[in-house]
Amino acid sequence: MINIDLADCTSLIEFYKRITQGQISAHGTDYCRVHQAIEYALQPGDKRYVELGVNQGATLAAAMTIQGGLRSCHAYDINLENFEPHRHLFERRADKNNLLFEVKERSSHDRGIVRECDVLYIDTVHKWTHVSVELQNWSGSVAETIIIHDTNSRQDIRQGIDSWVKRAPWHVKEHNTQSVGYTILERT
Ligand SMILES: C[S@@+](CC[C@H](N)C(=O)[O-])C[C@H]1O[C@@H](n2cnc3c(N)ncnc32)[C@H](O)[C@@H]1O
Repeated sequence: MINIDLADCTSLIEFYKRITQGQISAHGTDYCRVHQAIEYALQPGDKRYVELGVNQGATLAAAMTIQGGLRSCHAYDINLENFEPHRHLFERRADKNNLLFEVKERSSHDRGIVRECDVLYIDTVHKWTHVSVELQNWSGSVAETIIIHDTNSRQDIRQGIDSWVKRAPWHVKEHNTQSVGYTILERT
């Protein structure tokens, strides 16, 4: 994944447009398809969103600029150095929309961050051994949808999910196979 110079952005909308263009130039159009999955899961708005794996904040910006807005937004990354230069754009948008907003430097395996939410997006370490702990810790607290990135490029994650849903109250709504792919899980 590339990092894009966005230091001169003056709004979250501009940040989102430019980071998406940069990621599409570097990785191809389908790399950002997961943004549409996140936006769809968050409709019609007023949902509680949690993200694990922020990096610069592309998917976080996708979630925070949807039609209808969010009720709350909590996001965690083990290293926020790529996010901090742009934090003010997210905080300004959150203030303007009266949105409960928190981005903290934490491990996605820290059980202390687990909270009730409607939609969980997982994009941290692309290995089933890592994702399986995130699902185990979080799945009981997610009311509607879990989206996991990179499930096409990492077949161990896809296979792990297929086994996991057999013994969990969740089903696979979609295994997207464009670019690195993603999986959408919904409650059964
Ligand atoms: C692929 S990037 C996330 C991309 C981001 N969602 C976007 O739209 O650009 C993966 C991120 O996961 C973070 N990460 C790696 N291990 C982690 C862990 N154990 N807990 C939380 N975040 C972690 C990395 O620091 C990195 O920023």
